Amino acid sequence: MKQVYPCILFFLCLLSLGLASCTRTAPRYRIGVSQCSDDEWRRQMNSEITREARFYDGVLVEVRTAKDDNARQEEDIRHFINEGVDLLVVAPNEAQSITPVVEEAYNKGIPVILVDRKISSDKYTAYIGADNHAIGREVAAYIGTLLQGSGSVVEITGLSGSTPAIERHKGFLEGLSAYPDIRLLATGEGAWQSGPAGRKMEALLDSFPQIDVVFAQNDRMASGAYEAALRRQRTGRMSFVGIDALSGYGLEDILADRLTASFIYPTGGDRVVQIAMSILQGREFPRETILGTSVVDSTNAPVMKMQTAHISTLDEKIETLTGRMSQYLARYATQQVVLYGSLFALLLVVGLLVAVYLSLHAKNRLNRELSMQKGKLEEQKEQLVVQKEQLIEQKTQLEQLSRELEEATHAKLVFFTNVSHDFRTPLTLIADPIEQLLANPALDSQSHRLLELMKRNVRILLRLVNQILDFRKVENGRMELHLAPFDLLGSLRSWNDSFRMALLKKHITFHFEAPSDTDFRMMADAEKMERIYFNLFSNALKYTPENGKITVRLSLTGQNYLLSVFNSGSYISAADVKAIFERFYQVDGHQAGTGIGLALVRAFVEMHGGDITAGSDEKGTTFTVTFPWQEVSQYHPTVVTLPADKQEVVSMLVDAEMAEAEEGEKAESGPVVLVIDDNADIRSYVTSLLSGEYRVLAAADGAEGIRLAMKYVPDVIVSDVMMPGVDGVECCRRLKSELQTCHIPVILLTACSLDEQRIQGYDGGADSYISKPFNSQLLLSRIHNLLANRRQLKQFFGDGQTIEKESISDMDKDFVARFKSLVEEKMKDTELNVEDLGREMGMSRVQLYRKLKSLTNYSPNELLRQMRLKKAASLLASSDMTVAEVAYEVGFSSPSYFTKCYKEQFGESPTEFLKRKG
Ligand code: FRU
Repeated sequence: MKQVYPCILFFLCLLSLGLASCTRTAPRYRIGVSQCSDDEWRRQMNSEITREARFYDGVLVEVRTAKDDNARQEEDIRHFINEGVDLLVVAPNEAQSITPVVEEAYNKGIPVILVDRKISSDKYTAYIGADNHAIGREVAAYIGTLLQGSGSVVEITGLSGSTPAIERHKGFLEGLSAYPDIRLLATGEGAWQSGPAGRKMEALLDSFPQIDVVFAQNDRMASGAYEAALRRQRTGRMSFVGIDALSGYGLEDILADRLTASFIYPTGGDRVVQIAMSILQGREFPRETILGTSVVDSTNAPVMKMQTAHISTLDEKIETLTGRMSQYLARYATQQVVLYGSLFALLLVVGLLVAVYLSLHAKNRLNRELSMQKGKLEEQKEQLVVQKEQLIEQKTQLEQLSRELEEATHAKLVFFTNVSHDFRTPLTLIADPIEQLLANPALDSQSHRLLELMKRNVRILLRLVNQILDFRKVENGRMELHLAPFDLLGSLRSWNDSFRMALLKKHITFHFEAPSDTDFRMMADAEKMERIYFNLFSNALKYTPENGKITVRLSLTGQNYLLSVFNSGSYISAADVKAIFERFYQVDGHQAGTGIGLALVRAFVEMHGGDITAGSDEKGTTFTVTFPWQEVSQYHPTVVTLPADKQEVVSMLVDAEMAEAEEGEKAESGPVVLVIDDNADIRSYVTSLLSGEYRVLAAADGAEGIRLAMKYVPDVIVSDVMMPGVDGVECCRRLKSELQTCHIPVILLTACSLDEQRIQGYDGGADSYISKPFNSQLLLSRIHNLLANRRQLKQFFGDGQTIEKESISDMDKDFVARFKSLVEEKMKDTELNVEDLGREMGMSRVQLYRKLKSLTNYSPNELLRQMRLKKAASLLASSDMTVAEVAYEVGFSSPSYFTKCYKEQFGESPTEFLKRKG
């Protein structure tokens, strides 16, 4: 549709251009006609020219008359040159005067046709006219006959500088020479006009009493001479002969007996146009066209008159026809315009109809599409209505759930509060006796350590209980805010000092950055501010690894105090960061927090009109607290120091981690147990439980646990489940999928006693599951049992050297089978050692040793010797080989050593066996 309208427009434009060109036709040829005189003869020629020109298309003729004035004619011709006419027709007034301007036109490339009169050069294109010389001679002949060879004649010539006057005179003289008795009395100039001719005639009459014939070079001058003679009454026996014989005066004068005879001097206007068109259209044309002449006297004048009248009637008819034709042409042109206009209108209508049709078509299509879309929309609307109803239902359900959850949370909180209240007294009653017991100087180091552990954990419990109670207060709106002037910067500096020892112990680099020139005084509840900072800082301490970094920054930005605490090495996911301040929220299921601490921090910050956010990336975690700036300069704020019990808790945080270093009695030998737990106290406690009987390795997280297990291949692994990063289940799964460690029994220790988590643990390949709080005896007996079972297995392997036992993993079965076939294949090699075997099995020497020892109760060397001896026994029994041959065949370097070993293994020497075998 869009392409149709421009097409129609373009078409219409073309049409209108075409119409415009039809109505205005520019002349193709412009012809300039410069006439020397203005008389009947010239007018007749002019009308012949214009009439003839009408027969050609696109020819425009302009006629200018110089009225016998050379200068004026020169002007006319120059005008035509300047106008740029395509062709020039010139009847020069006088040859000499007009020649230069005609030459100029000719030289400029304008074709020039000379008519009737000539110029004095040949720089013209064509000439048309009668032979004036011949006419002169014919006139002389006529007069000779008229006078019967004798008499007197006078001649009145045309303009002396015009060529017809000159040529006619010469011809006349030539003709008269045939009549010696005819005397030319005189020749006088009449300038082609009757007046001058009359006056010349009068002079001649005065001079010559007897004049028989007057020859005037044209009829007009003859008429003037006749009038002059008539006035002197001398016309009686005088004859007048002229030239032109034009109807209108010459012919009438003959009929009226004023003129005896005249000679036709043809105007030839039609021929002029014909030759002009031949020139313009490039056709051939004669350079000289000589028109004929003939005498007219009383004998043929009436016929001539009739003919001329007839011709002029015809001319008039032609004129009429031409006029009509012009009318018709004009009408035709008008009709053409109307036709084109109608066509244009028609096309316009057609175009519009097409446009209307296309518009309608498009409209229908759009309507169809719209109705389809409408249908779809209605369908979608219905779906949306259904979805909306579902959403409303879901919303109601969610609201219900949320209410229930809120109620449950409330109930939980109420329960926690009650329980916490109940916990406080017994905890205090535990804490104090512990203090008393610790004061006993006779206490052995193990008991002291255990009491310290108890003390630490009772304090932590008390802190948690207090936090829960505080949180309830906040929730119930009963937490009070005691605002007083407070120096934030001074207090932070003081608190930082309290953390110094803990930082040192963990080798943490600490930076405190604050502008020295800024006032950080504000109205605040000092105790709550201290708890905010304590909580953030102790969290940072807890999660910063050894040799890590903590940076605290304090600044004034815009209208806020900005406090940020950054610690390196811990990463909290974006989802966790979002929810970290929600109550009971635990990051990554981390057991270390209850999810109360940060919720309480946020509550305290908000009570001060502030805001807290957290951000974390691979570098570490930053908590940012903002407090609104306050104008409190008139007060004298106090610097708050950290209470003594808090300082204790801080050092406990670190001491717990460091406690591992102080170990009690350690077993020098015995099975190796790897303890994996992120809680330093638990790690330390379990280590102390086991270290009397086992060699204990400890790891603070799953990744470290895997690394140690791979390196040392322990006999049993005791691992916590909920740990940051690689948790216990994942750690177990990975260890069970490695050949080097898949045989190691794993006990998972967890605070979660849900069946689902147990299932997860067993799916991960755990051999046992113990819930926290665990009984130390249970843990010890579980480890004993697992090792004993393993021993039974070892016995089985050791004795039978078979891998039929069902409880062993496929991976271990495959391992033993591979090892056996490897040994059988290589046993002949006396140089075969554990290093080589380990390499072949894809393990280190230690790994191979620990693995084989654990699975078979034999070291690789013992196993190798046993297999050699068993093979030797079989060879001795089934072949004829000598003892020495058998010894070498199974890889003993000396038969005597073979014999020694054989006897140790089987109770008799190989030779004795062979003898017995007979
Ligand atoms: C007309 C006329 C004729 C004559 C001719 C000669 O202007 O005077 O009468 O024959 O010119 O050029």
